[in-house]
Amino acid sequence: MKIINGLPIFEYGNRKNRTILFVHGFTFNSGMWQKQIEYLKNDYHCVAYDLRGLGESSIDDGQYTMESFSDDLLEIVDQLNLDKPVLCGLSMGGYISLRTIEREESKFSALALFDTRADDDTKEAKLKRAAGIKLINQQGLDKFLEGFLPNCFSEEFRINSHEEYQSIFDQSLVCNPIGVKGCLLAMLGRTNTTPYLSNIRIPTVVFCGEKDVLSPVEEMRIMAEKIPNSKFIVVPEAGHLSPVEKPDFVNTELSEFLKSLN
Ligand code: MLT
Repeated sequence: MKIINGLPIFEYGNRKNRTILFVHGFTFNSGMWQKQIEYLKNDYHCVAYDLRGLGESSIDDGQYTMESFSDDLLEIVDQLNLDKPVLCGLSMGGYISLRTIEREESKFSALALFDTRADDDTKEAKLKRAAGIKLINQQGLDKFLEGFLPNCFSEEFRINSHEEYQSIFDQSLVCNPIGVKGCLLAMLGRTNTTPYLSNIRIPTVVFCGEKDVLSPVEEMRIMAEKIPNSKFIVVPEAGHLSPVEKPDFVNTELSEFLKSLN
């Protein structure tokens, strides 16, 4: 494991192969992509890292912005000397990926978005984040996660894969509340990348869990339609964390997309 600017970086596979850079969602960590990395690492150079404030990364002062998350990502690309990686982001990782593509598209060869959106927060979403911060302050991170995490998964996954769900829950429970609140503020204050979508020129695939209640299929389909020549894939039966819930389906489709790149 390498550390870049306080962020743990996990590299798998041969650097001579095409690189895929994985960006996880809120309140998870790089382990979220484990099933994709296991599947792809023999043919690709896979790089994942813990976002600042989450996982094993530095918390610093807890004052993050979407711009600072994007700065971190670009710093990793530069410091690891990655040659046009495929950027693969889920949800908050998708917000970071989209803003980074808006800033520096030429540094990437392709984009895979999962269960995310390009729009900024609505007034209701902003107020919900503010209420989340208040809840963490008054009743603790566990209370916040009890309300937030069930929405990240389909009911089937929570029941039928209970041990896995519990393990993901437990990993979020040990997050530093300052880091979690910093992420909430960064998401609350992020800019809208929708106007840029029609400018995206790199090959793009957009995945959405059929049962995603946080970034629903119909919203994501509209987003994907704005990206020229993008492919939109609904992941059957999956909730918001579609690559965790349905790895076989996602791995097959992602690998088809990767093979189509020249
Ligand atoms: C995530 O999974 O990263 C979050 O659901 C994003 C969000 O809260 O907007």
